[in-house]
Formats: sequence, structure tokens, C-alpha cells
Amino acid sequence: MRHPQVGWIGIAEKNPERAKLVGEKLKADFITDDYRTLLNRPEVNAVIISTDEHLHVDPILHAVERGQSLMIEKPLATDLADSARVLQAIEKAGVDAVIGYTQRFRRRWLAAKEKVRSGSLGDVTLVTSRAFMNRLVAIDNYKRTDHPHKISPMVISGTHALDIVMWMMEAKTPVEVYARAIDKALGPEWKGIDATTGMITFSDGSVYQSTISWALPVVWPGAVYSLDVGIVGTEGVLTIDDTHRDIVLATSRFQGEGYAPDQSRRVDFLGSYPPGDMALGELRGPMREETDSWLNRVSLGLPTQAATAREAHRNLMLTKAFDLSARTHKPVKLPLAPEDDIY
Ligand SMILES: NC(=O)c1ccc[n+]([C@@H]2O[C@H](COP(=O)([O-])OP(=O)(O)OC[C@H]3O[C@@H](n4cnc5c(N)ncnc54)[C@H](O)[C@@H]3O)[C@@H](O)[C@H]2O)c1
Repeated sequence: MRHPQVGWIGIAEKNPERAKLVGEKLKADFITDDYRTLLNRPEVNAVIISTDEHLHVDPILHAVERGQSLMIEKPLATDLADSARVLQAIEKAGVDAVIGYTQRFRRRWLAAKEKVRSGSLGDVTLVTSRAFMNRLVAIDNYKRTDHPHKISPMVISGTHALDIVMWMMEAKTPVEVYARAIDKALGPEWKGIDATTGMITFSDGSVYQSTISWALPVVWPGAVYSLDVGIVGTEGVLTIDDTHRDIVLATSRFQGEGYAPDQSRRVDFLGSYPPGDMALGELRGPMREETDSWLNRVSLGLPTQAATAREAHRNLMLTKAFDLSARTHKPVKLPLAPEDDIY
């Protein structure tokens, strides 16, 4: 369904088959394979950048030059120096840019955020998060990059859990990261990382312990994301089971429209695909809420809880600090400067 404030939709897509498919679904008014041609059109005043993770930078900079409002998929970039450059361009131009940390639009995280913000837990002293994913997303990402060392479970996927936790901890200043990584499953074939576990320490002594594996066997039923979060404060505790084990589908038939995982998988935790689920011909769930809220933001000026470019840059900096600490086996002082992110 088209948002009532959207008068014209164009898409730029390099892959002609995909351009045709998406163009028809969106009833696009304009289709091109060159993002510059699209962004130079006079009709364009708001832009969604959803190219592959490592290909966000050039289209963002082109849109910023034109003063167009932006919704950029996470992560802002996959290289810390690029991310800093993009952040600087956005802030200098004063364009409105939000980043696709879709989880912020889910009721459970909003409820948790409100309880932490309004002091129900007292002073938050300890947060834990455990993210489990099968290896489909990891393999997809490693397949489409020539620089596997620049992507990692933290940079591509752990960034979602990290964003949620940092959103809860926004009053606190992270000062150090200490982490370890494992590469036994994805290392040999993909030069990839399986899992990262580590800890952020904040200036007041509170800690966040984070674990992510994106190398579970393909048959693990979490379509994408299974998350468990605990938040402990001086006067309360909040636990959030976001593992999606509450709706389990088992089928010997191939699943149709929407998220189409590897066909050898026959069991799925429904609802664990972060953008949402197809139902009655439309996407339902977090990404729809996020997109609608962004359209309301740019067309009506309504405030939203979307992550800012500065927060997205901080998230990339923290995920890179986890990876650097894991590589060097040393604690990393924060903030990590782009020139210190040595491979
Ligand atoms: N927020 C969420 O829940 C969520 C979920 C899935 C993906 N994502 C993010 O969305 C982004 C896209 O992911 P995806 O899974 O859709 O990737 P994808 O590879 O399926 O789609 C990316 C598309 O961009 C096209 N493309 C790349 N460079 C282009 C260019 N310069 N001009 C025109 N087209 C270009 C590719 O041809 C491809 O069709 C990533 O940043 C990813 O992390 C976010």
C-alpha cells in the first residue's frame, strides 16, 4: 500500500530482474540502474538507501549533496573512516537522516526502553544480550564482499542488539571494550568470523556483556534473529525473551512469498525475520512501522525514535572495537578512532 504522502516513487537497481520485480510490486513511476539518474530527478526529496551493507556510502553522499532526507539501512558503512566521512557530510549539510535500526519500532523494546528511561530499574548496572542466528545471513554477506575482514557478526548483525542496548544505556559513556572471536565454522571457506563475545565497560563501572553467533547450522529454526536480553538495575530487573520460540512452523512444503530461506530448512520460528512477515500480500511488522513512521517524519515533521547518523556511527565504532579487541586480544579504549582500526 502506498503511503498517502508519497506522490512519486522511483527505484535505482543494478540487477535488471530485481528492478522489474520490485518496480512492479511498488508500481514505481521511474526505474533506472543508476542511482545518480534517480537522485537527480526533480521529484525526489526523500531517499531510502538499501544497497548491500558495503555499498551505502556513494549513494548517501550523492543524496546529501542534493539536500534530500534520508533513511539509510544499517550499518551506516562497513569501514569506520567511511562512516566518519558520511556522518560529517550529513551533519554539515544539515539533512535529516535516520538509520534502519528497525528493532526500535517493536513494542517490546519500546516498553523496555520506557521502563529503563523512567527509572523502574533504578540505576542500570549490568546488561547481557545473546544473539543466535543460523549461518545463512553470514554466508550471504561473505559471498557478496571482496573484503571479508571488513564484515563480521558484530558489524552486520550484532549491531541490532547493540543499538537496542545502547539506546537503553544512552545516559552512560562507554569507555572500554574487551572481546574474543571464534572462526572454526566460517573461517576455512569464507575467511569469516563465527561468533564474538565481549564486554563494554561504561565510565560509571556498569557493564554490557554481548554474545553473537551467526554460524549456527542452517537447520537452526530461527529464520534470522533469536535474542535474549537481561537488564539489571539497583532496584529492578527486566528480562526480554526475543527468541521467537512462541510460533513454530514445521512444513514439508516450500514456503511462498516473503522471506524464502534455504529450501532444506523445514522448521522456522515465525516472526524471527527482523523486517516482518508477508501477510495478505503486504509486509507486516517492524520494517513497515519504521518506514511509515519515517514517511510521517519527513512529510508531517512528526518526531520518531529512529537512530540518528551519529548513533549509527557510534554503533559501527563499537562493533569495530569488539572486532579489534578480538583480533589483538587486547582491551580497546573508546572511542576508537578510524586510524586506530588496524587490520
Ligand atoms: N533493518 C533490517 O531489519 C534489515 C533487514 C535486512 C537487511 N537490512 C539491510 O538492508 C540493506 C540491504 O540488504 P538486502 O538483504 O536487501 O541486500 P540485497 O543484496 O538483497 O539487496 C541489495 C540490492 O542493492 C542493489 N544495489 C547495490 N548497489 C547498487 C547501486 N549502486 N545502485 C543500484 N542498486 C544497487 C543490488 O543489486 C541488490 O539488489 C543492508 O544494509 C542490510 O543490512 C536491514
